Amino acid sequence: MALRYDTATTPPPSFAEGGNMRQKVRATGLDPNYWYAVEFAHRIQPGQVLEVVFWKRSIALFRASNGELHAIENRCAHRQLKLTLGSVEGCRLVCLYHGWSYDGEGRVAAIPHPLFGKTMPELRVASFPVRVRYGLVWLFPGDPALAEGRALPEIPELEGPGRWACRPLSFTWSAHHSMIIDNVSDFTHAHLHRKYRPFGDARLLRCETVGDNVHVSYDTEVGRGRISGLFVDHRRIDTNHMELCYQYPYQWSNTDDAIKHWLFVLPIDEHRTRMFFLFYFKSFQIPFTRIPIPRGAMDWVLRIANRWLIAPLLDQDRSAVEAEQNAYAQHWTAPIAELNPAVRAFQEVTVRKWQAYLDSLDAPSDAARRVPSPSASSQAK
Ligand code: FES
Ligand SMILES: [Fe+2]
Repeated sequence: MALRYDTATTPPPSFAEGGNMRQKVRATGLDPNYWYAVEFAHRIQPGQVLEVVFWKRSIALFRASNGELHAIENRCAHRQLKLTLGSVEGCRLVCLYHGWSYDGEGRVAAIPHPLFGKTMPELRVASFPVRVRYGLVWLFPGDPALAEGRALPEIPELEGPGRWACRPLSFTWSAHHSMIIDNVSDFTHAHLHRKYRPFGDARLLRCETVGDNVHVSYDTEVGRGRISGLFVDHRRIDTNHMELCYQYPYQWSNTDDAIKHWLFVLPIDEHRTRMFFLFYFKSFQIPFTRIPIPRGAMDWVLRIANRWLIAPLLDQDRSAVEAEQNAYAQHWTAPIAELNPAVRAFQEVTVRKWQAYLDSLDAPSDAARRVPSPSASSQAK
């Protein structure tokens, strides 16, 4: 029997249109009722505004002259221009066109032209809670009433006087967020990294979903690359084992409590994802010795490692997942041949959480959880 040449003639289905697990997961957003890393805190200075996109919703993030950060819907209530085209004046964001100015809660606070005998209208756009931690700006794109009850990821190693060295990296890849989660937690792709050898010979020991978390562990050889291997003290650190977790919507890994990372994804749309990688290390050794590199020098070592090891390594992942995204658009009808059960487990959680979020929007008793839609959130009071 001749094999079918499986090229799709239509675009992949939306989430509502359904399909198999892979087709559903590639169409999911992430539940907005979590905190999402959206920018490095130092990248937005007083008087600056920039655009953040969370799952197709544009948000204007601005820092007032007093240093406070605010996030409001990126849409002027007057004629819908993006507010990020405007400027920050004092504690307000001023629209480019007619100069209407918005406070941090998204209220129109001033209109600088005549009102033609009318009273000042009470208008506002949606606003979003913002926090700063670990050098990142965190935004809560969902229902603001739920923000207090939702914790940010706890990373004690990155706070306090004895904090570990960490220089976060950020990239925007042309791929769905689920492909990136699959990539970072699935160690069957050592072939892609055969030049750098961040892991190798991986054997899956555990794959268990507990609530909204998928725990995975591998016996694997960590950090055996020609250069990276010189900096890791393999006699003090057990580099033959790694724990990972998809802690929805985040992801982390841990090698012997000495080498760790967190990945925070920011879903932009079905084809684009921004991500923040925080790799952090208890210590490195001076190559060919067992002498730890002094803490003061670790930031410099990490700068060099990011540039010459980690960024090139992740660029290999970028090229692979972007190729996967392109391939999915062309061959989404082709049968799935997935061997690693961890991949299926991640996808099940992502689909379940997205379905639960969509269901919460439809539940009449739960109307308060609804994230205001762009058209509904501009209210004339
Ligand atoms: S469009 Fe923004 S002030 Fe008119
Ligand atoms: Fe990889």
